[in-house]
Amino acid sequence: MAYISLYRKWRSQNFDEIVGQKHIVQTLKNAISQKRVAHAYLFCGPRGTGKTSIARIFAKALNCKDGPTPSPCGKCDNCVKVRDGHAVDVIEIDAASNRGIDEIRDLREKVRYVPVEGRYKVYIIDEVHMLTSEAFNALLKTLEEPPEHVIFVLATTEASRIPVTIESRCQRLDFSRISLDEVKDHLKKIAEEEKFQIEEKALDLIARNGEGSMRDSVSLLDQLASYAGNTITVDNVVDLLGCADEELLFSIANSIAQNNVAELLQQLREAIDKGRSAVQILRDLIMHFRNILLLKFKASEALELTKEYLVKLETQAAIFEVEKVKKIIHLLSRIELDMKWHPHARLVLEVGLLDVLENTVPTLPPVIQKIETKTFVTIDSSPAQVAHSPLFNKVKELWGEILEKVKKKSLYGFVSLHEGEPVEITNDGKLIISFRKGYSFHKERLLEAKNKSSVEEIIKEVLGTAISIDCKIENSEKTTKPQVTIDTVKDIFEGEIV
Ligand SMILES: Nc1ncnc2c1ncn2[C@@H]1O[C@H](COP(=O)(O)OP(=O)(O)O)[C@@H](O)[C@H]1O
Ligand SMILES: [Mg+2]
Ligand SMILES: [Zn+2]
Repeated sequence: MAYISLYRKWRSQNFDEIVGQKHIVQTLKNAISQKRVAHAYLFCGPRGTGKTSIARIFAKALNCKDGPTPSPCGKCDNCVKVRDGHAVDVIEIDAASNRGIDEIRDLREKVRYVPVEGRYKVYIIDEVHMLTSEAFNALLKTLEEPPEHVIFVLATTEASRIPVTIESRCQRLDFSRISLDEVKDHLKKIAEEEKFQIEEKALDLIARNGEGSMRDSVSLLDQLASYAGNTITVDNVVDLLGCADEELLFSIANSIAQNNVAELLQQLREAIDKGRSAVQILRDLIMHFRNILLLKFKASEALELTKEYLVKLETQAAIFEVEKVKKIIHLLSRIELDMKWHPHARLVLEVGLLDVLENTVPTLPPVIQKIETKTFVTIDSSPAQVAHSPLFNKVKELWGEILEKVKKKSLYGFVSLHEGEPVEITNDGKLIISFRKGYSFHKERLLEAKNKSSVEEIIKEVLGTAISIDCKIENSEKTTKPQVTIDTVKDIFEGEIV
């Protein structure tokens, strides 16, 4: 049997299965039972909130053998045909794919014929705002003198693009986004029926990600099931979305609060190594600070968050001042703009976040902590312990100072240099900086004339000897254990080593 996507399999088949949209369901049910059905309805609202589903249920309700009834049987020929999309009297037109006047002209012709199987001909015109102006005019003519047996349901995600002339002939019903709890409950029900095991936090994240669109949330659940199988964890969701998980957001925000560069870069590196996208991390971070800001203004009702999350967020919000949060959001949005034009989102993010640190005063005194040394890659596949020249040893020893000074001179140079490791001085006197595989953009960035000469100037300044630099990419996957010798590197960061 062909696989049916969950959102189609779980399309609500009667009014009682619809989640949320209470006033709309009530209005339509009443219209039917009181025999006061309007000739045209305009369904407005975000995608995936039930417009098409309700339109079809409404069509069933009107044409059910037992009807018109607010509770169509779902079993008679008419109901079944609507469900399967075979009902000749229920005509769905997708204005987004059938733009133009032909379709509507055709409609004007056919609208006059009486229904074949049911009582009403129901025209469901989806994304109606996409119609051309001629098509709108043609539709208007029909709406002005609708035949008794015809009912229109116009659906749109962009109500503002519907001509007033059209809107004024319809009864308008506004669909709202579905609340987090309602989405979660629905997902839970589906998961139970489908025999998925799913973590509560995973449900949370899926629902939050759907932003009130049931379709998006159900589709995500579907993707997760094919990605992770029947047991779905929050890590699966994070992996699939490439989004920043809760922990990452809180810890980055902490590093910002503490002005801790080393931690911050470390967190980013780990996240990106795990496959998170820089673009998504930034987007999530902006949302995170937006949430903090809303909390600061006591607007937490506006946030759809679980209690537990809210408590965590409140704790974090307490360490930021409002002005600082605003500034951070402002700076983060600027990074977002920069990213649009720059091929290396990651670099922009790193530089941008350093910028955030430099432009916001620390909220707390810098943390005194031992920062974990990053794992370096060695170039030699032969065992370490290669004898290095005294000059190279000096470079290693003063590397922290070099980085520190480069940071003041060129942020881009610094971020790239920070990702690399000095590995040797060649026989012809070049200092080789090695980058891990996949980091060639840092290498290229560092070798750009401006950055390269900045770094070389600093090296000369610090060592008293001019050395030119070159870069290479480590191509073996082999990594060695962390080297503790580069603790000095960490000295440059705001944290102190104890
Ligand atoms: N209010 C809702 N209650 C239950 N399921 C919904 C609801 N809204 C959307 N869905 C789910 O999302 C899918 C798409 O919904 P649809 O009615 O086509 O949304 P729209 O037309 O507003 O974009 C449905 O098949 C159903 O699985
Ligand atoms: Mg639809
Ligand atoms: Zn029926």
